[in-house]
Amino acid sequence: MNLKDIRKEFSFFKNNPNVHYLDSAATALKYDKAIEKMTDYYLKSGVNIHRGSYKLAYLATKEYEEAREVVARFINAEPSEIIFTKGATQALNLVANSANLLVGTNEEVITTEQEHNSSILPWLDKSQELGFKVVYIPLNEEYKITVENFKKILNDKTKVVVINHVSNVLGYLNPIKEITKLAHKQGAVVILDAAQSITNVKIDVKDLDVDFLAFSGHKIYGPNGIGVLYGKKDLLRKLHVYEVGGEMVSKASKDAIIYQDVPHKFEAGTPPIAEAIGLAEAIKFMESLDYQKTTDHIKKLKAKAVAGLSKIKGVTIYNPTSDFGIVSFNIDGVHPHDASSVFDEFNVCIRSGHHCASILTEVLGTPGGTVRASISIYNDDKDIEALIEAAKKAASFFGGF
Ligand code: ALA
Repeated sequence: MNLKDIRKEFSFFKNNPNVHYLDSAATALKYDKAIEKMTDYYLKSGVNIHRGSYKLAYLATKEYEEAREVVARFINAEPSEIIFTKGATQALNLVANSANLLVGTNEEVITTEQEHNSSILPWLDKSQELGFKVVYIPLNEEYKITVENFKKILNDKTKVVVINHVSNVLGYLNPIKEITKLAHKQGAVVILDAAQSITNVKIDVKDLDVDFLAFSGHKIYGPNGIGVLYGKKDLLRKLHVYEVGGEMVSKASKDAIIYQDVPHKFEAGTPPIAEAIGLAEAIKFMESLDYQKTTDHIKKLKAKAVAGLSKIKGVTIYNPTSDFGIVSFNIDGVHPHDASSVFDEFNVCIRSGHHCASILTEVLGTPGGTVRASISIYNDDKDIEALIEAAKKAASFFGGF
């Protein structure tokens, strides 16, 4: 699809003609056809799946399971390795819920100071209960993760590596393939938080060889309320069930439960049927895009933002060399939340604060967090110009520059 036509696929722009949406790392705008598919399901059927033996139930089940196949194809997995969850957060928690099977007392989990709370907090929580140690890959002077620094802390006590593919604050692409290879040599499993990379990187789980991977539908132009956990089948089968309820058991009696096989074992209750259908449509949209072109477009806009912002007196950019469309910055003497109110006056939607990456805020030495602009495929030069104008205004109004 031509980049110029992309905005036509999002009603957001018709409904908000003057808005500059630069908050796609928080959530991407919703692709019209994904919403239409969901509406179609609700208007024309809306029935439950995996239960009824009537035609409509059969058709809805088929559509839901086909959505699983679309997800599997998208990341080069098998459909049985795809669990539908509420989002990336639930997917990551589902794996950490089996921490006792993956890491023992006095053993180690390696993670990074770049992590989103959803990927690190479940392990910190479990470490208190189970007594394993959480160890952090030291970031380099640009706040990047390097294979060299990973090697320094990898040892025979390492049992789990939980790491992001692209940081939601810094936008760096991490060297996951190399890290995974080294982790596997030590017998550790690798859990990848792909919530931010899924929009920019063509993911192939077989090539990356990670053991688990999580992402959300709403970050790839699809609906809220649905996410994906990918796991290698043998490992998934070993995990504890996360929720117990309808449709995930093959047999239950007063004193025994026999669970279904994966993926159904992890999908208790009525699942997000419309959301799975909408997610599949969003993925088909992504498959129609030329990743090279979209990445080039995003990088061009990011470079323009970095160039414009760095000319403003008092502005510090924390990730000028980020790999994708994320620019995190501060204006001297201006709290990020105050800055965001000026951006709002200019109809520029950005996020301010900690971006749910509390540990990184400490490392950056920014107690109030940062201002973050995140650029996506539908942004254009005007959005970046508005961002720069608003930053100038915030710097002169609050910072006195
Ligand atoms: N994780 C999302 C963000 O980075 C919500 O804003």
